[in-house]
Amino acid sequence: MNGILHNSQIKYLESLRKEKNQLILKMEEYARKNNVPILDWKAAEFLETLVLALRPQKVLEIGTAIAYSSIRIACSLRNDCSIDTIEKSKDNIELALKNIEESGFGDKINIVKGDALDIIPNLEEKYDFIFLDADKEDYKKLFDYSVEKLNKDGVLFIDNLLWKGYAGSAEIPEKYINSTESIRNFNQYFLASNQLFSTIVPIGDGIGLGVKQ
Ligand SMILES: C[S@@+](CC[C@H](N)C(=O)[O-])C[C@H]1O[C@@H](n2cnc3c(N)ncnc32)[C@H](O)[C@@H]1O
Repeated sequence: MNGILHNSQIKYLESLRKEKNQLILKMEEYARKNNVPILDWKAAEFLETLVLALRPQKVLEIGTAIAYSSIRIACSLRNDCSIDTIEKSKDNIELALKNIEESGFGDKINIVKGDALDIIPNLEEKYDFIFLDADKEDYKKLFDYSVEKLNKDGVLFIDNLLWKGYAGSAEIPEKYINSTESIRNFNQYFLASNQLFSTIVPIGDGIGLGVKQ
């Protein structure tokens, strides 16, 4: 299994792609070569479009990695809006800081160093838009923490809910059995929450979208 779209559809969408930002393309290449799991470019375009349409003032991201999605969000944020992004890996923080400097969005992107499980309950701010993209086995806890920190009508955007296609597949390779189970349990929990209007959109690796009621 290789994702949730047929290869012919992926090729077709790639042939239509207009991306010109050299830093974005360079980060995608780096992630591909170094196996860094960043947001699929189609889901990233969807994310940018949502941010542009919803005009969130304050964004929280859980899982910065090399700052690919942070920079894509920053591209769509209006002046005087900002993103706090939480990352626990020192190596990733170093790479993210370099990319953020190159992007010129240092004034919009604030890296919060440490484990989101410790950090989020202590955040004083509330957010209009939260992007959850951390370790899958922690999704339930991080989801609960995120909903707490989301303003009413705020949007929660969650990556990997179709998990490379395995969430809906009968055949799962040994190494993905536990993570697939975590994602399946999480999906039930997410869709059953009465705090959000929620759905799963089959873009990229499957995006959970929820609006706080
Ligand atoms: C899938 S990558 C994030 C990709 C990034 N959002 C993008 O699309 O460009 C997940 C990142 O989350 C970090 N991470 C995982 N669990 C975390 C936690 N509990 N607290 C902080 N960072 C976490 C990992 O170190 C990793 O860099």
